[in-house]
Amino acid sequence: MKHTDIRQILAKPEEYFGKRVVVCGWVRLCRDSKNMAFLSLNDGTSLPHLQIVIDKAKVALPEGAARVGSSVRVEGEVVKSLNKNQAVEVNADGVVLLGDCPLDYPIQKAKTSLDYLRTLPHLRVRTNTFNAVFRIRSRLSAAIHRYFQERDYIYAHTPIITGSDCEGAGEIFHVTTLGYAPQYKTAEEYNAADFFGCSAGLTVSGQLEGEVMAMAFGKIYTFGPTFRAENSNTTRHAAEFWQIEPEVAFADIDDIIEIATEFIKYIIKAVLDECPDELALLERFYEPELTAKLGKVVADDFARVDYTDAVEILKKSGRQFVYPVEWGLALQTEHERYLTDEVFGRPVFVVNYPKDVKSFYMKLNADGKTVAATDLLVPGVGEIIGCSEREADYDKLVKVIRERGMKMSDYENYLDLRKFGSVPHSGFGLGLERILMYITGMGNIRDTIVFPRAKGELR
Ligand code: 4AD
Ligand code: MG
Repeated sequence: MKHTDIRQILAKPEEYFGKRVVVCGWVRLCRDSKNMAFLSLNDGTSLPHLQIVIDKAKVALPEGAARVGSSVRVEGEVVKSLNKNQAVEVNADGVVLLGDCPLDYPIQKAKTSLDYLRTLPHLRVRTNTFNAVFRIRSRLSAAIHRYFQERDYIYAHTPIITGSDCEGAGEIFHVTTLGYAPQYKTAEEYNAADFFGCSAGLTVSGQLEGEVMAMAFGKIYTFGPTFRAENSNTTRHAAEFWQIEPEVAFADIDDIIEIATEFIKYIIKAVLDECPDELALLERFYEPELTAKLGKVVADDFARVDYTDAVEILKKSGRQFVYPVEWGLALQTEHERYLTDEVFGRPVFVVNYPKDVKSFYMKLNADGKTVAATDLLVPGVGEIIGCSEREADYDKLVKVIRERGMKMSDYENYLDLRKFGSVPHSGFGLGLERILMYITGMGNIRDTIVFPRAKGELR
């Protein structure tokens, strides 16, 4: 069906005035009176709709075409609009109904709260809100690739099925073909009989394999789905989320912080440049000053605070936190939010965490107590990036693996990287949905993924 994308017509109306076009789409709004009908048509290529004007004396309007949700094909002439809210409209001379939409279509104006729409993941994508969110997600993803490709990083495809738990948090989804099998008396017997002959799971991070690639290509990034069986039901945790993980050889913690800063500014600027309509809509309905906030992120420096100082700030805050604040403990969401929302008011890198609250692979600092690790926290969301310099010393890494009771044989390849031409290297992981929450103002991670997966939720 040869037709013109609505985006093209709206972007350059002067090129279309007086021309005949065919447009296809779904009716988003309609006004139907005795003599005239007006359809707001959307084909998904743009957030704004295209107005179709139908003079019923001249054009036959098929039954059902003037109904919200119906899909139509319209032929007509593009003309200047007299309505000040739009530059252009189409005077129809032919309307074909492609798909009728009965009145029980659940996406009606009156009840479109985000909570309600979450029960309809297959239909909510047709609303303006999700038109904006998922176009931003797409543009953001393209900008992420562009940032790395323009700088000669290699895009590495790391495996989804793995045998190791990179983060060591035991939040792995197991992959098995056996199912319930009472004949196996021990986990070892069960695993030996299973598909891979050992225990396997969905990756929580592509980092370990990313490091392998970085030791050959110098600068690499991954961009793919990662999975965590986190037992928490929060607005920021998904069981399946997309992660971007650059890994850079010959880079220390300060180098990677600089890269992360430049990267975040670059991708946010891309969304500001490419998605003004979408941001304006989200600003109107979800987060006042959204565009100004993002503009400031691009223009201003990010803050940086030592974990030890952050703990002091929290202790002196006079706030009653639910979770204790003590040197050596992890920062909880409430602590992170206090730092970002109340103290810094902009993105902040918290650096040098105690080694015991972080993963095994992080480089031990000279103090012997902290690691060269940082989280990037942003107002309203909390952590969006986990980042560190990696332990590049073979003996120190062996010691940590032993101390943590991890199975040495699982890490032989990883240790080889430290044995054969080890170099200082660093990397980070950005959660795509977390930064999308920040950019779109969506308060729930479920509203940044088409089909969100979380504990007890699989629609
Ligand atoms: O801080 P994390 O656990 O770091 C890693 O996985 C490292 N291997 C990254 C690296 O150095 N290559 O996770 C990285 C980011 C978090 O900062 C957060 O943005 C996101 O992944 N993330 C989640 N997003 C949604 N739902 C979850 N359950 C998430 N867990 C982590
Ligand atoms: Mg983290």
